[in-house]
Amino acid sequence: MSTVLHGYVRRFGIGRILEHQANALVFTILVITGLSQRFHEYRLSHWIITTLGGVDAMRIIHRYTGFLFILLIATHIAVGVYGVIVKRWPASMMINVDDFRNAIQNMKYYFGITSQPALCDRYDYKQKFEYWGVIAGGFLMIATGLILWFPVLVARFLPGEFIPAAKAAHSNEALLAFLVIITWHIYNSIFSPEVFPLDTAIFTGRISRERMVHEHPLELAHREQVSVEEIIKHRHVQQHDINR
Ligand code: HEM
Repeated sequence: MSTVLHGYVRRFGIGRILEHQANALVFTILVITGLSQRFHEYRLSHWIITTLGGVDAMRIIHRYTGFLFILLIATHIAVGVYGVIVKRWPASMMINVDDFRNAIQNMKYYFGITSQPALCDRYDYKQKFEYWGVIAGGFLMIATGLILWFPVLVARFLPGEFIPAAKAAHSNEALLAFLVIITWHIYNSIFSPEVFPLDTAIFTGRISRERMVHEHPLELAHREQVSVEEIIKHRHVQQHDINR
């Protein structure tokens, strides 16, 4: 029985892996070159600005990296829409009523009210929350970033107040996004006991079957053409093995 629990399952293809690394790189450059403008009075910011060749050079790096960020988001949306409509990929990131049910079920589980954690599909409700946060935050950063990039053009069509408002929104959303990534995302992919010392799935494209049983039992059942009860049975077997 335990052999069923061993081995790995392919979770991400090369396109998704490269996309994630490109996003991580672009986001890191934007955070470094953006936040050192906002917190320019700090010694670390001063060092970053000098190392990058001065504030003018850093602003240029920020803007053109921002342009790459726009390309990444636009490609992501175009590929997603094409995949779902033309290639009939399952729209696995869409929020549905089961996500709310699963969140409630897990809260009951964590409070000890039920012994059964939620049975999640390809992406659980926390992953969807993070994903849509990135998309919504990304749109905000792009819209406000473009206003800051082309203020004279924008002021021809919109009231001038939009420019300081865009600066406040861009700057504060940047700080929020940075804090969310270093707390929530880094916790879930590095420090969470389920994946520590590193969730390697987005580097290798593979995830252990054992984790699939725990974290994505519905997807596993669908892939292996068995009932979800069959999958959870293994989850119990494994729990029993751990306890022994
Ligand atoms: C999600 C990624 C991004 C982060 C974390 C970020 C962060 C920041 C921060 C913290 C500032 C300084 C604001 C202040 O002085 O208070 C800034 C300024 C600016 N950002 Fe971004 N930004 C991002 C994306 C973008 C994008 C996509 C664009 C372009 C479309 C852009 C264009 C600008 C511009 C034009 C400025 C004003 C400074 C300058 O004139 O160069 N940013 N950004």
